[in-house]
Amino acid sequence: MSRWRVLTFLLCVIGISVYLTEYDPQRISQNPLESEPCTCGNCLAENDTWFLQRINQSVEPFLSANYKLSEDAFNWWKILQEEKRNFSHYRETLDTLFQIFPNSPDLIDPRPQECRSCAVVGNSGNLIRSHYGPLIDFHDVIIRINHGQTKGYESDVGKRTTHRIMYPESATDLDNTTRLVLFPFKIQDLEWLIKAMTTGFSGKRTYAPIKYKIKANKDLVMVMNPGFMRYVHEAWLQKKGRYPSTGFMAVLLALHICDEVHVFGFGADRDGNWNHYWEKLKDTNFKTGIILELKSTKQSGS
Ligand SMILES: *[C@@H]1O[C@H](CO)[C@@H](O)[C@H](O)[C@H]1NC(C)=O
Ligand SMILES: *[C@@H]1O[C@H](CO)[C@@H](O)[C@H](O)[C@H]1NC(C)=O
Ligand SMILES: *[C@@H]1O[C@H](CO)[C@@H](O)[C@H](O)[C@H]1NC(C)=O
Ligand SMILES: *[C@@H]1O[C@H](CO)[C@@H](O)[C@H](O)[C@H]1NC(C)=O
Repeated sequence: MSRWRVLTFLLCVIGISVYLTEYDPQRISQNPLESEPCTCGNCLAENDTWFLQRINQSVEPFLSANYKLSEDAFNWWKILQEEKRNFSHYRETLDTLFQIFPNSPDLIDPRPQECRSCAVVGNSGNLIRSHYGPLIDFHDVIIRINHGQTKGYESDVGKRTTHRIMYPESATDLDNTTRLVLFPFKIQDLEWLIKAMTTGFSGKRTYAPIKYKIKANKDLVMVMNPGFMRYVHEAWLQKKGRYPSTGFMAVLLALHICDEVHVFGFGADRDGNWNHYWEKLKDTNFKTGIILELKSTKQSGS
């Protein structure tokens, strides 16, 4: 591991010096994966065939006004949480959505001389007494998920949040500078975003109560592409489980929008307990179909 790091670092340094001495704009405008590495200590995808076989940089992580989801991808997505309504309804809802929110996602473009570093901060109890706060805050992009709060836990989880992933059942209010990243699982989730940011949402409760209104900056709203969810399920999970977990999709999202990704707060704590860092869960015996399927594939060694 450490040899690999040193090697990657040296390759980066060599890359940079070649770049500095023989500046040739044509080489830089090639496919990002074939051009100069980034200036991070470790640059993603550099010479790693396992990674390169799976990553597909052409899949858009976020929806935009011009993006056309294939009907095929819609049909995969609609069964995740039993969507009954059709593709035209989905498209009409998105047309309304993009009248309110930015037409294209706010992303940092890759540049050969830069390092876009990302921290994905999960909600595991293993963050307690980790003292990772300052390290996490050092990243350019800091992605947190659902209720993962920072107040009162700054020394272990950090203070900054640039992106907050949520869905209606897990929504929390945001400050004016944090990007709201919606992971939609059904058309109602898109309708919720529109209503909860404007007149208020009065749709039906699903598996949990849903917030009527949410505070967030509407200029900083991004919606994950259902086609990206399907790509994660197929290319990265080989279609195991029903669909990828939020945490897994968060990591894949980071791999697509950053040059270097650090992951914090995933998995059980040192004693094997599955808790959130801010609460002890009474029922840690998670019995969702998805987790059970993943567990059984792990045990069968595939
Ligand atoms: C990079 O790939 C080449 C060709 O596949 C291989 O010879 C070399 O050892 C690889 N370097 C690293 C650091 O993995
Ligand atoms: C990568 O994604 C694009 C866009 O979805 C698709 O057209 C292409 O076939 C994919 N490439 C591979 C190798 O899967
Ligand atoms: C989609 O559903 C609506 C009702 O919600 C219906 O009026 C419309 O004809 C359907 N469109 C297609 C293409 O099936
Ligand atoms: C939040 O930011 C927007 C600009 O993106 C600005 O128009 C608005 O006034 C800000 N709101 C607050 C409460 O600071």
